[in-house]
Amino acid sequence: MHIYYNPGNHTFHLCNRDISYIMTVLPNGQMGQLYFGRRIHHKDDFSYLLETRLRPMSASVFDDSSLFSMEHIRQEYGLYGTTDFRHPAVEILQENGSRISDFVYREHEIADGKPPLDGLPATYTESPQEAKTLLLHLEDPLTHIRLTLLYTIFAWGGILTRSARLTNHGAHSVQLTRAMSLCLDLPDCDWEWLQFSGAWSRERYPKLRPLEQGITAVDSLRGHSSHHQNPFLVLKRHTADETQGEVIGCSLVYSGNFLAQAQVDTYDTTRILLGIHPAGFSWKLEPGASFQTPEAVMVHSVCGLGGMSRTFHTLYRERLARGFWRDRERPILINNWEATYFDFTQDRLLDIAKAAKDCGVELFVLDDGWFGKRDNERRGLGDWTPNPQRLAQGIAGLAERITALGLRFGLWFEPEMVNRDSDLFRAHPDWVIETPGRHSSHGRFQYVLDFSRAEVVDHIYDRMAKLLREADISYIKWDMNRSITECYSGALPADRQGEVFHRYILGVYSLYERLTAAFPHILFESCASGGGRFDPGLLYYAPQTWTSDDSDAVERLKIQYGTSFCYPVSSMGSHVSVVPNHQVNRITPLHTRANVAYFGTFGYELDPGSLTDEEKCAVKEQIAFMKQYRRLIQFGDFYRLASPFGRNTAAWMCVSGDRRTAVIGWYRILNGTNLPFERIRLQGLDPELPYEIWEDNTRRGGIYYGDELMHAGLITSDASAGQPLPGERPGCDFDSRIFVLQA
Ligand code: GLA
Repeated sequence: MHIYYNPGNHTFHLCNRDISYIMTVLPNGQMGQLYFGRRIHHKDDFSYLLETRLRPMSASVFDDSSLFSMEHIRQEYGLYGTTDFRHPAVEILQENGSRISDFVYREHEIADGKPPLDGLPATYTESPQEAKTLLLHLEDPLTHIRLTLLYTIFAWGGILTRSARLTNHGAHSVQLTRAMSLCLDLPDCDWEWLQFSGAWSRERYPKLRPLEQGITAVDSLRGHSSHHQNPFLVLKRHTADETQGEVIGCSLVYSGNFLAQAQVDTYDTTRILLGIHPAGFSWKLEPGASFQTPEAVMVHSVCGLGGMSRTFHTLYRERLARGFWRDRERPILINNWEATYFDFTQDRLLDIAKAAKDCGVELFVLDDGWFGKRDNERRGLGDWTPNPQRLAQGIAGLAERITALGLRFGLWFEPEMVNRDSDLFRAHPDWVIETPGRHSSHGRFQYVLDFSRAEVVDHIYDRMAKLLREADISYIKWDMNRSITECYSGALPADRQGEVFHRYILGVYSLYERLTAAFPHILFESCASGGGRFDPGLLYYAPQTWTSDDSDAVERLKIQYGTSFCYPVSSMGSHVSVVPNHQVNRITPLHTRANVAYFGTFGYELDPGSLTDEEKCAVKEQIAFMKQYRRLIQFGDFYRLASPFGRNTAAWMCVSGDRRTAVIGWYRILNGTNLPFERIRLQGLDPELPYEIWEDNTRRGGIYYGDELMHAGLITSDASAGQPLPGERPGCDFDSRIFVLQA
């Protein structure tokens, strides 16, 4: 990787083996974007890539020429109000009411490695050789506000990270009303836009549409990244697919309100903007103060969507997630929520734990209902002391019994919330986010604590830390079950109310930072009614996320498939639950529930005591299988083979780093009679290596070279209601198979 700078024409070229990113100082001093894409040769001069042509109706910058208009120039951090009419990257309301800025190049620094972003999650390096960072310092000569654009290029992969920092060196306070993390102007619009949308229990479905002149956007204004949209957008060439073609993915390392937008102008250039949602946002920047935007990560791939995803997976697994659990196989857990809901006693929990331990489970997780007077969803949130009626010896006592069984113990919290019927609310009614004089709306009968206030975060930290010190707790499920309404902080003045949403998320991050630092061995799993905050911001603190409250295997195929476009398998919480399924009432075979859940962190969300002996044996085998292959599945390379959207069969696979072992999951939604012959073309194998094919501990005759399996395919035809071959299971609805390849 290298960052070239040519002082003669002030051109910067950031490149590694895969990508080039080129920009230059423009004649008006602002920064222009020249190229982002596949690696190209370095030259001293790329000025021909700056096109300045006269176009009717354009406004011109220089008095003596009509050629130079920012309307036609691709920029690094677009500004509205002079000659560019597109949506800007930044907007600053100044003392005289003007919102125009003019950021011109002053100086730059090139540093090895990557600096951390104060108070914000971000990708990182472990040695200075892993990346180089360019800091471009620009300044507005009128307001003396300094804009620093940060660019980090990693030594490997088509990755470039971006963020912006604004510092007020002027004499007056200003209001920042927009500060995006990323602005990328591309020279054409021949792209399809791919977004990941949904709702509670059907999160992150891929949705594709062509870019057109005008605006294409997704966003969240809910105070969290949301079930509805994800802070992730992909541009793909029309001909690109899973295995080939040009793709750009842009992901925001942030968990609050966001905007991801593409604007195609009259000349078919495309401007991507990604960052904190400007709606409702403002930040008062007093003289001397700085504002740092969250980080955006851009990945460019010429190996299609699959190539892009694997780059994100490696980066987010190895250089975004942190801590003790980052590189460790994740414990196979049992969670009592769907087994008991609020209806449990200590004895019932211990019965579940014992039965789970007999099957090989490693971690018991006690979900909602253990604290305060929490016997339903209307009360107790905020009172993080164990309920003595349910747990006579408290959490410490229960944890001791669980660990004596040979299991680890994990606990559910919802730190950001409070019920009105709680001691915390009675003591501090002013700690809730609500607007004076307005009705306060609830979500699941709960209210949001004002995490923009340090004393609120301190209080919750003290409560949680006390429990974590007293009891042997190895895992925390950190839930967050409502969106923010009537957003207002009683602790901030009127001209800072636009800061509350962002300050709230900074408060969440600070609590995570303190807890993960003080209790480094605890595994954190984030959750927000399932996947309502499945974003890179939280992956920095919690290496895994409860992917969705929908635990049905068929629904999960879609959810995990969509989630995999950005997020690694190791980050996806996935459990086997009971049938009929509690969300969709569907009855799926036990083997299919496991065959889907293997492609994640794996666990159970049921009472093993309710299983038949035959099912218990199957569960034991499932757990043994996962223990054998989880390193490969959670830390190998993931390939999507067949999409569950609009089709009856789906497939995906994980390949070990040395490409000698692979696990393939194949799924058929509905059975049919006399179905066509079928094969799937595998990916990621070593074409030269001969592989054995194993299914249910039985080896298929013959050996198969990697190239055969990738080009001719793996045959998955079955009896489909005809005559099963000897040893073959008869087909059924919601069927699935796992194949293991061994070189
Ligand atoms: C949310 C979570 C569930 C469970 C419940 C408990 O809905 O997503 O997994 O923890 O809260 O109230």
